Amino acid sequence: MDLKDLYRDVILDHNRQPRNFGHLDAPDGRAEGHNPLCGDQLSVFVRMAGERVEDIRFEGKGCAISTASASLMTEAVKGKDRAAIRELFERVHALLTRADAPADITLGKLAALSGVREFPARVKCASLCWHTLNAALEHGSATISTE
Ligand code: FES
Repeated sequence: MDLKDLYRDVILDHNRQPRNFGHLDAPDGRAEGHNPLCGDQLSVFVRMAGERVEDIRFEGKGCAISTASASLMTEAVKGKDRAAIRELFERVHALLTRADAPADITLGKLAALSGVREFPARVKCASLCWHTLNAALEHGSATISTE
């Protein structure tokens, strides 16, 4: 399966059946992210165990790419600590924005997001959840806009 097929299949799958969709009661961190270009927004909730994300959920209304990206992100970060999540975000961000970013098979299903590079207007769709998670981890409670 080439990356284009992977991109299509992973986005479709995670948009149809988003993982970790919903909210967490009494979260340690939560943030609202807003994409002003389209009006879409999503909320990210985290429960921490020390430095580690013990549980995470997201909810909101967004396009297929933003929903799938948030679903993939929750799967990828659950159980990781802040430092590992920061490092993962750097790699995903490079994948989304740099045409010369090498294929990184260690990213697993997240590698499918490199397909977004062909549609620059959609990069914000895919990165909205990550900026929102960063805000939840840094501030405990925050509202951000990706502008
Ligand atoms: Fe709104 Fe993608 S079109 S987040």
